[in-house]
Amino acid sequence: MGTTTTIRKTAAKVATLTRLKQVRSPADLAINGAPAMFPEPLHVGRPNIGDHKSFLQRASDILDGGWLTNNGPVAQEFEQRVASFLGVKHCVAMCNGTIALEIATRALDLKGEVIVPSYTFIATAHALQWQEITPIFADIDPATHNLDPAAVWRMITPRTTGIIGVHLWGRPSPVKELEAIGREHDLRLMFDASHGFGCSLGGKLLGGFGECEVFSFHATKFFNTFEGGAVVTDNDALAEKMRLMRNFGFSGYDNVIYPGTNGKMTEIAAAMGLTNLEDLEEFIAINRRNYKCYQNCIASIPGLTMLGYDESEHNNYQYIVVEVAPYFPVSRDRMIEVLRAENVLARRYFWPGCHNMEPYRSFYPHAGLLLPKTNAVAERVVVLPTGSAVSTADVEAICSILRAAALTPR
Ligand SMILES: Cc1ncc(COP(=O)(O)O)c(C=O)c1O
Repeated sequence: MGTTTTIRKTAAKVATLTRLKQVRSPADLAINGAPAMFPEPLHVGRPNIGDHKSFLQRASDILDGGWLTNNGPVAQEFEQRVASFLGVKHCVAMCNGTIALEIATRALDLKGEVIVPSYTFIATAHALQWQEITPIFADIDPATHNLDPAAVWRMITPRTTGIIGVHLWGRPSPVKELEAIGREHDLRLMFDASHGFGCSLGGKLLGGFGECEVFSFHATKFFNTFEGGAVVTDNDALAEKMRLMRNFGFSGYDNVIYPGTNGKMTEIAAAMGLTNLEDLEEFIAINRRNYKCYQNCIASIPGLTMLGYDESEHNNYQYIVVEVAPYFPVSRDRMIEVLRAENVLARRYFWPGCHNMEPYRSFYPHAGLLLPKTNAVAERVVVLPTGSAVSTADVEAICSILRAAALTPR
């Protein structure tokens, strides 16, 4: 059974099993005593899973072959497929995105201070801190949620060695501007592309920018390998260095030539990756369909704005990012409570910003003064469920909840 069939069957099952309630006014909301909209929770980041048969065949072949990890044939095939899909020379597959970030920053010889956004998943900052490199948080552009080049420029000191741009929500960082800053100040530039698999800038897929780019293939990402990650690059020497680093520094059986760690991707993870790669277009089509449906509905709700994707580019549409205006009748946090009561597990990513989490909060108690846009955006964003587990009927039902919340008396 192909993925299309699986997804259609699941959608049909949900439609017949679940009669979604009609929500016309605040009185119909679960928070006001009505039954919940969904019997099962709708998660942000529920995994997209490709064709089960293909995966199980690959799993069976791995068991028959007895080669479970250590750069096996499936991991090698996965690396080749990813590199050719992204149009880069090298893909170095890893056990997760965090280790991939750590290995990439180490291989680039970053030290001292590295400029990153605070409005990102904590791993971007932790990967640096773990190596005693100081993450320096620069503010974002509130229109894009990505690094503001002028803010990056302001945070440069004599100790700065590099910049990590994050392609937040799969929407590209200001690559050209960051490259110019890097050139002017002799800084190394890499990207955390964890959200950006299958997304492009100027028609070129993310993965080919900066000195290297890092992907996360965590289960919650649009494209997953259970857990996994990769660093991709066109730099032969850098790729070689990272291959050594992810395998304890081994060059041959008994010869260690580098301080390394264990960052290898397992065969079963690579099998999941190969399977999901085959269904990538379908995942994108579903995400786009849901995105369009959300866009239509949310456009008619005053006080809610959805972050758009540039339709002239490739997008994976994996995040439905909504900003709640101060004049909306319920606050962002109250709206999340309203949605949770309906079993819609909306999230306030990436609140409260890395600078407000430990150890950074204690290290730089006044960092927020330099991050007004980060603070403001983190206070107003809510991320809604999408992906292959969410149908357009679900999206319309979620939007009916939002519409009723908008009618709540202030
Ligand atoms: C922006 C960003 N960076 C890094 C990571 C870390 O990736 P992983 O969970 O694969 O370690 C994630 C996701 O988890 C992420 O969203």
